[in-house]
Formats: sequence, structure tokens, C-alpha cells
Amino acid sequence: AVTLDSLARAKGMRFGTATDQSELVQPDLAALIARECSVVVGENAQKWKKLEPREGVFRDENAQAIAAFAAIHDMELRGHCFVWNQDDRIPGWLLEREDELAKNGGEGLIRQMWEHARQLADAFPTVASWDAVNEVITPWEGEVRDALLSRILGDRLMDVGFAMMREVAPEAQLVYNDYMSWQKRPNHRNGVLKLLEGALSRGVPIDALGIQSHLINTLAQPIDERGWRDFMQSVQDMGLKVLITELDTGDRYLEETDPAKRDAEIAAFTKGYLDLTLSFENVERIVLWSISDRDTYLNRPQYPEGKRRPDGLPFRAHPFDAELRKRPMYDAIAAAL
Ligand code: XIL
Repeated sequence: AVTLDSLARAKGMRFGTATDQSELVQPDLAALIARECSVVVGENAQKWKKLEPREGVFRDENAQAIAAFAAIHDMELRGHCFVWNQDDRIPGWLLEREDELAKNGGEGLIRQMWEHARQLADAFPTVASWDAVNEVITPWEGEVRDALLSRILGDRLMDVGFAMMREVAPEAQLVYNDYMSWQKRPNHRNGVLKLLEGALSRGVPIDALGIQSHLINTLAQPIDERGWRDFMQSVQDMGLKVLITELDTGDRYLEETDPAKRDAEIAAFTKGYLDLTLSFENVERIVLWSISDRDTYLNRPQYPEGKRRPDGLPFRAHPFDAELRKRPMYDAIAAAL
């Protein structure tokens, strides 16, 4: 049967989604993912804060369920993520100890990172591609974010993070993952290019760039096609592969409320984005950040009020609705492949 993954494979790519144990226990959702995808990644299950909520307490049941699902269905497992340069994304027990971790050029932090890297590699030996470092650059200024990891290590966060993952998982692809986009916001893109160029020139073993692609804000906002093309070209020229790692299309600023019209706009916008982005040959994966409205974080109660649609209508950001029926975004992705 023709599926998004079969279409992707015909082009030498693969298609996938983020998921969670709580979704894989739903037989219809699990069957849908197994049919349409050949890549899975934990939406939250492998994050340091989730895996090790208290020092030395390692909770990997959720992530192991995802790894097992991937193995049973012969899918590729992605790892997300080793380190994330935002203070609310690392364990509180680390954050509390910043002064101690910073001593002697960050000796304490480096020791903690080694332990974490080894734990990840031991627990998840089947991961084919790791997001080694996540979200270093700020979107507005395009500078290294002020967060514990970079306060202590600065740019060396790249060197240290990638070297450790290469050491513990020598076979895995190593990815730098961030949310620079095709929006008119060049600083984020330029900051990421600078970060990658610097690291590559120091011999940091980066294999690929992960482009998150949360198109939450860009529908009905100015986009910069030229800037995006230049960015993609620069990444290709650096010899890096590209993965679309977290695709969803939110119509936060679209005033339209009619569901059919919203779906049509979302589909067209997604197609435009993919047509442009997939015109670069180094793109090798397209991974959704949830496959349906049933499992998306965008409609969960915890999702911040300020990032929702002003009219309060739920997002329709995925190729399947909550009943797992295809919507126009599905055909848009298929057409772009
Ligand atoms: C998000 C998850 O989807 C949410 O459930 C969680 O509350 C916060 O993190 N960039 C990333 C992902 O790299 O890990 C984030 O996932 C979305 C933005």
C-alpha cells in the first residue's frame, strides 16, 4: 500500500513521528504509526529530566516501550535528546548545583554529562540517530542562550556534547537540533550557521542538522523564502545531512475559523514548506511531532495559554484528526514527496 513512508522511501528518505508509550498502547494509533512510518522518536521519554528525575533514579520504562515498538516493526529509532540548552529542560537537581558544577572549567558538569551519555548509550543501543545537542541559539538575537550548560561550557558545549556521544555511540548519526525557521527572523538562522561552522572547523563530529519545523507561527506571518534557500544551501555546503525532526503546522495567527478552510490553508502551507525544503538533496528524514490531533501536545491542557489561538479553537496541525481520519495535510505531504 502507498503510505507516507513508502513515498518517502521511493525518494531515498524515511518518514516518521514522535510518540510515547501512552500512545503505543492504543491499538488503532499504534497500527497507524506502524503503517505510515519507519522512524520513531520519544516525544519526551528520553529527556534527561524525565529519565533521571532525581540523581541516580533512572526511569526508562516509557522510552524502552518505544524502542521495543521500533524493534518489533523494524523501524529506525531516533534519540532525543542528550543535552538541551534551556534551564527548564534539565533536571532541577543539576541546576541547583551550578556553582559546584562550574569549578575547574566545568569538571563537575562534564562528569555528570559523561554519566548521562553512558546511561543513554547502555539503555538504548539501537538508536540510529541522536540529537546530541538541542537548542543552543536564541531565536531573536541569534546568540548562544544563557543557560547552565552554556554558562559553564560556552561554545565548548558543542565539542563536549558531540565528542561524548561519538565515544559512547560510535555507530550513531549525531545531530544538532534547533528551531530556526523560514520566518523573517534571520538572526536565528545565522546564529545556527555560525555555531555549526565554528564547531565543524574545530573538528566537532556533527553529521546532520535537525530542523524542528514547528510551523506554529508562520502561517499568516511573513516568511523569507530566499533566506530559507540560502540557509539550506549553506548547510548543504557544509557537508551536513538534514532531518526535519518535529514537523507540525499550527495556524495560530490565521483568523479563519471554518475547519475545512483551515485544513486547506494548513495543507497548502505545509506543501509549500516541504516543496522548498525537500528541493535540497541532503534532506533524509521527515519526522512529525505527533501524527494526529489525539496525541499532539499542542492541544494538551499544559500547552501555554499564550501560544494558543486567540479564539481558543484547537490546533489542526497533523495529518490525522483525533479519530485518525486523514485530513488534507496528509495529501499535501504525500504530494510533496
Ligand atoms: C515538547 C513536547 O512536545 C512537550 O510535550 C513538552 O512539554 C515540551 O517539549 N523542541 C523540542 C521538543 O526539541 O523536545 C519539544 O517537545 C518541542 C520543542
